[in-house]
Amino acid sequence: MVEVKLVDLCKYFGPVKAVDHLNLHVKDREFVALLGPSGCGKTTTLLMIAGIYKPTSGYIYFEDEVVNEVPPKERNVGMVFQSYALYPHMTVFDNIAFPLKLKKVPKQEIKRKVKEVAEFLRIAELLDRKPSQLSGGQQQRVALARALAKEPQLFLMDEPLSNLDAKLRIMMRAELKRMQKELGITTIYVTHDQVEAMTMADRIAVLNQGRLQQYGTPDELYNKPSNVFVAGFIGSPPMNFIDGSLVEVGDKLVIDIGPVKLPLPEDITAVLKEASAKDEVIFGIRPEDIQIKPDGQYPAEVYVVEPLGRDLIIHLNLGEGLLIRALVSAGTQFNIGEKVRITFDMEKAHIFDRKTEKAYI
Ligand SMILES: Nc1ncnc2c1ncn2[C@@H]1O[C@H](COP(=O)(O)OP(=O)(O)OP(=O)(O)O)[C@@H](O)[C@H]1O
Ligand SMILES: [Mg+2]
Repeated sequence: MVEVKLVDLCKYFGPVKAVDHLNLHVKDREFVALLGPSGCGKTTTLLMIAGIYKPTSGYIYFEDEVVNEVPPKERNVGMVFQSYALYPHMTVFDNIAFPLKLKKVPKQEIKRKVKEVAEFLRIAELLDRKPSQLSGGQQQRVALARALAKEPQLFLMDEPLSNLDAKLRIMMRAELKRMQKELGITTIYVTHDQVEAMTMADRIAVLNQGRLQQYGTPDELYNKPSNVFVAGFIGSPPMNFIDGSLVEVGDKLVIDIGPVKLPLPEDITAVLKEASAKDEVIFGIRPEDIQIKPDGQYPAEVYVVEPLGRDLIIHLNLGEGLLIRALVSAGTQFNIGEKVRITFDMEKAHIFDRKTEKAYI
């Protein structure tokens, strides 16, 4: 249990800025996800925290102590990787016991500890087996047990669920979250899967090209994304982005997106005016914030329908070649080419500066 602070942390590999001035504060007992696309610097960040990589510059704090020079085995960190990296020739018991043997923990104590974590993770009946005789989910739990047996003050996990099938992944997601809350071990969890990050983490740090894009709760990232990258990364199906321009009509602001001109609500207008927003903007609206209904305000044509079981994604043509996605509950029949009417929930609109891609609101 420890608080972790990253201050201006950088890691460069020659010209590649894998991690670029990262500032992050992970509170004691918090579950933080590092989320971003392949190559954004997630693993590199984790390896620096573990002490396996040396930062190019910047500081890593555990509580108030700078640990940059502390060797990995003195950091008391438990790591779980995507490849569970179990020793194939050892039994489950020996795999879990291994780090304790290295620490020269007395035999009786090792036995007690292994039994305790094995029971906690519900693998007590598997202790005599070899990893090859286990399912993926069971191997995953052994890897967790091995990290847990050390009683680490910090858990670092790098895509630990990505080798599991979809069903097992969803189950383990919930189990991991519960385990983390029960044990209260500060956890930093790497994933490129936004659903995993959203469902498990207390807070999410979104990274792109080594730089922090936003750090906040799942709710903040979904409702108040700070730029186009975060807005497009969080949420499925993804947000619609439409180039538009702001036009003043009397004391009101309207956003012109080509085929239609959308009046902006008062509160959004006020924010844009306060920020002296540029005319050239990107209008962002989530598919779930577009309604298709007979008394909708704007005409559209059904371009294609994608059923998702409980919901449907309806691709709509607004005219002038402008296509957007709407999410509606299954149950209504839509046909290609059908004329419909739609309404945008403008209170949920996101407006970004087109040049900087930063959100005004
Ligand atoms: N040892 C290394 N030498 C040179 N470049 C490296 C090294 N390790 C990582 N990189 C580069 O640093 C960047 C970040 O890599 P990193 O492994 O941290 O990404 P990641 O976010 O974990 O991606 P993924 O989701 O694919 O695992 C990438 O451009 C990668 O090619
Ligand atoms: Mg990685």
